[in-house]
Amino acid sequence: MLSNKVSRVALIGAGFVGSSYAFALMNQGIVDELLLIDLNKDKAFGDVMDLNHGKVFAPNPISIKYGEYKDCAEMDLVVICAGANQKPGETRLDLVEKNLKIFKSIVEQVMASGFHGIFLVATNPVDILTYATWRYSGLPKNQVIGSGTILDTARFRYLLGDYFKVAPTSVHAYIIGEHGDSELPVYSAADVAGIPVYKLMKRAAHYKMEDLDNIFVNVRDAAYKIIEGKGATYYGIAMGLVRITKAILSNENSVLTVSAYLDGQYGEKDVYIGVPAVINREGIREVIELELALDEQEKFQQSAAILKDILKPHFT
Ligand code: 2OP
Repeated sequence: MLSNKVSRVALIGAGFVGSSYAFALMNQGIVDELLLIDLNKDKAFGDVMDLNHGKVFAPNPISIKYGEYKDCAEMDLVVICAGANQKPGETRLDLVEKNLKIFKSIVEQVMASGFHGIFLVATNPVDILTYATWRYSGLPKNQVIGSGTILDTARFRYLLGDYFKVAPTSVHAYIIGEHGDSELPVYSAADVAGIPVYKLMKRAAHYKMEDLDNIFVNVRDAAYKIIEGKGATYYGIAMGLVRITKAILSNENSVLTVSAYLDGQYGEKDVYIGVPAVINREGIREVIELELALDEQEKFQQSAAILKDILKPHFT
């Protein structure tokens, strides 16, 4: 186990993403207690039973139970995966009205329990709903985190690794901005084993700059392709959520691209948006300010402006 302290996580929303998260969490052996909360009690009960049947194969003991909002008081982390998801052809931002309503009710009920831990939000549009969770909860900004561009960054590292024929873990690169259509790649700060990607591109004739553009387009549009194919995306995001959970519960101080509150960083204020940040037991310890190229800075500002426009009519 990570420390002597018992680690407790409540998951709200046992749909595709939530139950994949629970499964991945159990397999990685990083929490002591997991509660599943869902409006659809039968689904949550079913998942609890099903997961418990795999317990004998898990790397560490874990208690998995059905929970109610009132049980959130003692949780270290509440992960929200509840809400409507995209239908084929819908953007993440199309979900805003529906999911804001759902979130108000969820967050208020969690807070009524006396919860004082960390919220991790995964539901789309994640940057908007993370901001909403912060506002509805009244918790400090560092205790509210969105999954942001963690998955986009993982997709980016995977595709770059494939292109340069190295493991994705040896690629250091970020996707920042909205987790959605206005996100951007930070090629100016991307490297493979310390060699900047732009330099690496000059080392072989078969590397073409347009390949980098295509890689980004494939990252940005990945979810649309998956949704067209199988109706929803869930394994990748579940793994990303587990990664954030581990960074929090084991006080890692790891840098992950999450949706974090900006208070002047990157020239932006009062918005939650995907940026690299140091994650530990406090939640977001610090936002890392990359030195962006001019065009990257402009794109980032455009992305932040899109999010702020959506927030404006809902939050004063
Ligand atoms: C994803 O990027 C749909 O946000 C979800 O997979």
